[in-house]
Amino acid sequence: MYVEKLIELIDEAVLGYIEGARKPHTGDLYDAMEYAVLQGGKRVRPLILLNAFISSKNYDSDMTPAIPFAAAIEMLHAYSLVHDDLPALDNAATRRGKPTVHAQFGEATAILAGDALLNLAHEVMLKACMAQPGKRTISAAFAISNAAGHGGVIPGQAADIFYENKPAAPEVLHFIHKHKTAAFFSAAAYAGAVLAGEETEFAKKSALAFEHLGLAFQIKDDIGNITGDAATLGKPVGNDETSGKNTYVSVYGMEKTENDLKSLLSTGKQLLSELYEDGSPILLSTILTINKTQSV
Ligand code: IPE
Ligand code: IPE
Ligand code: MG
Ligand code: MG
Repeated sequence: MYVEKLIELIDEAVLGYIEGARKPHTGDLYDAMEYAVLQGGKRVRPLILLNAFISSKNYDSDMTPAIPFAAAIEMLHAYSLVHDDLPALDNAATRRGKPTVHAQFGEATAILAGDALLNLAHEVMLKACMAQPGKRTISAAFAISNAAGHGGVIPGQAADIFYENKPAAPEVLHFIHKHKTAAFFSAAAYAGAVLAGEETEFAKKSALAFEHLGLAFQIKDDIGNITGDAATLGKPVGNDETSGKNTYVSVYGMEKTENDLKSLLSTGKQLLSELYEDGSPILLSTILTINKTQSV
């Protein structure tokens, strides 16, 4: 199945969940949620999840069980971006080639839209667990919840902010990248595999492969903030340096950064090739998507 078709399914599901939750008297809240998730973006994480699901030997051409989890991980990613862009965090004015959610709707609505996406994602996953109770759905939900929470984004973002204008040791930088970015990648791969009924060991190896690719993705993002251009990336450049962020380039220099990026990509792909004989068409496209820097 084509990537575009998968993206359509993800977006339809997300829109349906947000519209299903919509309440009156709430100002721009639900419009801000839709804006945050659906205006631009590459859908890398739900694609990884769906890819892991449909690449399974158990896949029987019914993608339905994976869709709520794919939609949930994208809502969680969007929530993390809305809050990441807030004045109190990265203070970014643009994202995906458009004003950030707080720039467009105001700070209060942006905070609430982030909270609302975070909660809606969990409601969607819990409903899916109730509809199909069992180890597959519960362990997928746990992996995604953990990546959005204390196994990933929250400590990652806390360390990212805490180390602003303080030099981070290599292990601190690794902690930041692994938590704030790679955790969602590995959880997506893990969830897709367990939802398809793969053994835990298989799912863990798939997660490890995508942890490498997720680390590579953040390194690429760090490089883009220095050498990229804002119009192509759809978000500010140069602000990592001005806000005193620790990035792969600030810690290691550009040459080692580029070498490590290559080696993380190649280890990730190697691990995947040990799991999937010839890969699936979508598997390859997913990796190519990861290699693209463009955000719009
Ligand atoms: C941006 O992620 C945040 C990082 C982890 C670098 P993406 O580059 O996947 O953002 P969108 O969803 O495509 O805008
Ligand atoms: C992205 O961090 C990770 C998140 C949890 C949002 P960054 O702050 O490095 O990502 P961009 O460059 O704003 O997309
Ligand atoms: Mg940030
Ligand atoms: Mg940021």
